[in-house]
Amino acid sequence: MKIWELLPWGRKKKHPADSAAHAAEVGKFYNKNHDAFLKVYGEIIQAFRTNNLDNILHYQIQTIGLSAEQRVLDAGCGVCGPARFFARNAGCSIDAVTISEVQQKASEEYILREGLQDKVKVHQADYHLVDTVFPKETFDKAYFLESFGHSPDKEKLLKAVWKVLKPGGEVYIKDLFRRVSDNWMVQYKIDSEIKKINKAYIYDVADLNDFVDMVRKLGYVIVFIKTIDIPLEDFENLSISNEFQELTGIAKIDNWEKYIFPIDFFEVKLYKPEYDINKGMHRYFLQNVFQLQMNHLNKNEF
Ligand SMILES: C[S@@+](CC[C@H](N)C(=O)[O-])C[C@H]1O[C@@H](n2cnc3c(N)ncnc32)[C@H](O)[C@@H]1O
Repeated sequence: MKIWELLPWGRKKKHPADSAAHAAEVGKFYNKNHDAFLKVYGEIIQAFRTNNLDNILHYQIQTIGLSAEQRVLDAGCGVCGPARFFARNAGCSIDAVTISEVQQKASEEYILREGLQDKVKVHQADYHLVDTVFPKETFDKAYFLESFGHSPDKEKLLKAVWKVLKPGGEVYIKDLFRRVSDNWMVQYKIDSEIKKINKAYIYDVADLNDFVDMVRKLGYVIVFIKTIDIPLEDFENLSISNEFQELTGIAKIDNWEKYIFPIDFFEVKLYKPEYDINKGMHRYFLQNVFQLQMNHLNKNEF
């Protein structure tokens, strides 16, 4: 990295990597490490988690806003641990997508064993192509639980999700985002650690500012971006990632004293407007005025 790339205006505009090739690598990664993931994480493959897993899953039902009559997309479902919990406890119907065929087969067995075939369907597919798998405007909600960051082309991904969401539908993302520091040396260390995470986990940790620009350009309304609203003492201390690293040797941290924690966890909710932002009073809504300007539309014409 060049020093000037640490400056906000000096950062290189990334060209998104080929999402299909990247997804194939992610699939291989989860196929190969399936047993290790099950052993360390169990059926909920999330690093930022509560000691009692039911707590974070019940919280997710509330924060995503899941309820019985909904049709829901789980984008990056693991072994459907969360999807099965949500179907049982919120009653919604879920289409779950994973790129890993090993995870897909394991999910099918769990779903069958638990008698949830009517509620949870699992598909092996690339989530960048969900618009080719499901009819348009199918889902009330789509959620990503520590899966969004695997995408190297988040714009393509959220465009595809837009198509399969009903108007008025929502996207929920829980993920890690690049930390920022006012000290260039610390920033350099953060970015070096992020490079290691990206390489080891076939990830592409998002920058929050780039993400915000991108989703607004696409036309999503930002409902919230916040830290997860569960008391910190209820969370595991991320030791689960260490266990996984010890077991697999993946991204092992050798010197904890010098380690700089490179990421923040946020939860984000986006809304696909159910109205035409060009029409009526809706155009005065602040985020919509921004959209009109971005699209060079003159609001006096309406
Ligand atoms: C860290 S796991 C999280 C699993 C699950 N959300 C959970 O909470 O247990 C990441 C998941 O994202 C999925 N994933 C990553 N890239 C994908 C892609 N391009 N298409 C579909 N699934 C993908 C992986 O297959 C894996 O199941």
